[in-house]
Amino acid sequence: MTKQELENLLADMSLEEKVGQMVQVTADTLTLGGLVTGPTAMTGLGEEQLSLVGSILGKDGPEDLKKIQEDQMKKQPHHIPMLFMKDVINGYETIFPIPLAQGCTFSPEMVEKAAAAAAKEAAAMGLHVTFSPMLDLVRDARWGRVMESTGEDPYLNSELGKAFVKGYQGVTCDLKDKSRVAACLKHFAAYGACEGGRDYDNVELSERTLREDYFPAYEGAVKAGCRMAMTSFNTLNRVPSSGNKWLLRKVLRDEMGFEGVVISDWAAVEEMVCHGFAKDAKEAARLAIEAGVDIDMVSTAYCGHLADLVRSGEVEERLVDEAVMRILTLKNDLGLFENTLKVMDSSEADKVILCEEHRKLAREFAAASFVLLKNENILPLDKKAEKETAVIGPYVEELNLHGSWSFPVQNEKTVTVKQGILNKISEHVRFSKGCYLMDQGCPDRFEKVEDYDEIQAREWLEEAKMLAEKSDQVILCLGEAKEQSGESASRTKLSIPEVQMNLLRTIHKKNENIVTVLFTGRPLEIQEIAELSRAVLVVWRPGTEGGNAIADILYGDSVPQGKLTMSFPRSTAQLPIYYNRFNTGRPNNETGTKIVYCNGYIDENRYPLYPFGYGLSYTTFEYSAITLSSHRMTGQKSIKASVMVKNIGSMAATETVQLYLRDVYGSVVRPMKSLKAFKKVTLQPNESKEIVFEITEEMLRFYNADMEYQSEAGSFEVYIGTDSETKNKAEFEYC
Ligand code: BGC
Repeated sequence: MTKQELENLLADMSLEEKVGQMVQVTADTLTLGGLVTGPTAMTGLGEEQLSLVGSILGKDGPEDLKKIQEDQMKKQPHHIPMLFMKDVINGYETIFPIPLAQGCTFSPEMVEKAAAAAAKEAAAMGLHVTFSPMLDLVRDARWGRVMESTGEDPYLNSELGKAFVKGYQGVTCDLKDKSRVAACLKHFAAYGACEGGRDYDNVELSERTLREDYFPAYEGAVKAGCRMAMTSFNTLNRVPSSGNKWLLRKVLRDEMGFEGVVISDWAAVEEMVCHGFAKDAKEAARLAIEAGVDIDMVSTAYCGHLADLVRSGEVEERLVDEAVMRILTLKNDLGLFENTLKVMDSSEADKVILCEEHRKLAREFAAASFVLLKNENILPLDKKAEKETAVIGPYVEELNLHGSWSFPVQNEKTVTVKQGILNKISEHVRFSKGCYLMDQGCPDRFEKVEDYDEIQAREWLEEAKMLAEKSDQVILCLGEAKEQSGESASRTKLSIPEVQMNLLRTIHKKNENIVTVLFTGRPLEIQEIAELSRAVLVVWRPGTEGGNAIADILYGDSVPQGKLTMSFPRSTAQLPIYYNRFNTGRPNNETGTKIVYCNGYIDENRYPLYPFGYGLSYTTFEYSAITLSSHRMTGQKSIKASVMVKNIGSMAATETVQLYLRDVYGSVVRPMKSLKAFKKVTLQPNESKEIVFEITEEMLRFYNADMEYQSEAGSFEVYIGTDSETKNKAEFEYC
């Protein structure tokens, strides 16, 4: 349709029809007439209101959606097609590593490819929009949703945010393309900074911190053309995001230039009553539309009250028209007015879902996301050495290696660790479960509360002990249960279940050659695990090809290259912890001399156990000192910083070369280090390459004392190295 045709359509719609476009319900609500939870359950929607609803979430499948679309369009006076949305977070059926793991690849290319594959599968299943990417910066691993984020760094998150959007929507953003879906950035804004890591809690951040650290990732996605944005559940400086005019109209639309559709998070409009921000659902509806929420996800605020608010003159109809125009424009750009079903042929789905190409990508992507935290000359294992190997742990045969958003997935399509290892070697290897995944009596939110059988538990442990004793080496597959990370899975103890720690301690008494393969959705407190293991490989939640990817890394067919994008604390009590912090007036003394009155703790080291950017390889990369093209940078002229990186080990491998800047003094204090650029380089043994970075004036900018985004003259330090604690430094003056 042309713009004029869309405008004509809008002009012809009744107020009720327009409001219907602004309401999203679950498919069950639509088909069963109101089987819902949360605030929606309290009122229920009438037949007529349901017939006008403009979008649903959480339903897929060409046949089902075809029927829903046809039924709904028949009922609608203007036969407007609906939008189908869903959380396709790290893959649709082919599951890729969780976003936190994807971040550790430092590879926008791979993120884009995986998002494109996910879009292809999702679109083939009839979906139009995915509620991804999640771009909340995270600094506190107690929050269960850190697994959905790409980590603690504003620059990296922004680069990866762009990559997700390009992958879902395509570089040209042609949403009529049958292999694309529209992306929805979330959760705007700063959901990741919830107090104490408690989900849904208040967020209190200065405007400077918001703009400097939290907004860049969302802005990256907007600049990449992201078509939708979702508000966050939290209050931001005491105002719920779904009622925050400054946030949605000024920052998102006016400053960032977002032109797409804003949707609330699940029931977040009506939750403004609970927050104590709105008197009732009616006031919540008024506040949300004034703030700029176009679609109310599953609450009854818009469908119950918006039309009345317009009729009584409390809300200008212009606001409704603007919102509906944005929704119609998205439908039009997706091509739904011409091809109301877009892709609705199940043969398409059969071709792409879990196809060879996607599985191959999932395997490579997973392997690239694993982070090797420790390796005392044990990895890679030698396939030909004929060493007796025991593979022990509750993750050995676990099929659910996905993140918490991969609920519709057919687990039996997953490659387990056991299968992955057997695909490589068939002799001298034995397997044992060792223990239950969860402790006895774990909370009932867990999907899979195993019937705890004491006798069985003892048998497993005995078998594992015997196996460990008879073997030369042990691969121990441990970790958090899937349900321990994700929405509403905030934790105060960042440990793995005690039953698994007990297994580790028991096995260690029998055999010290332990390689721990750690499954997790967040950074954990792993001092003891690291002490008792000769190697620790963090594999996050690796997805469909997890077992193959793990075996690839363990046996050296692939070399670890992942780098942490969230610091691993020594202790949970250090949280929040992140690398780009300030020096303070009394910096912690790194020389080892005891200084009493300095920043830190008296009972724990101030630094993380493993910092941002950290990750070992099977080879060693040697860095030369930094060469600067000039030690003076002026005006808009950039300078070049270069290093020689040499592979001095015996295996070809990939390194992520990281460049950090420090603005030594400014009109407001600046972080000790900020990541400004990175480059991935693959080097053969003995090969070296010069890695050149351009340092631009733009990289020096920050929100100064007057909140202007500018650079300031002064001294700068540039660091180039293998992680955020690199000491490889050069200095320049900017004037
Ligand atoms: C989550 C969102 C998600 C939405 C729809 C909410 O609970 O916070 O991230 O997109 O549900 O499933």
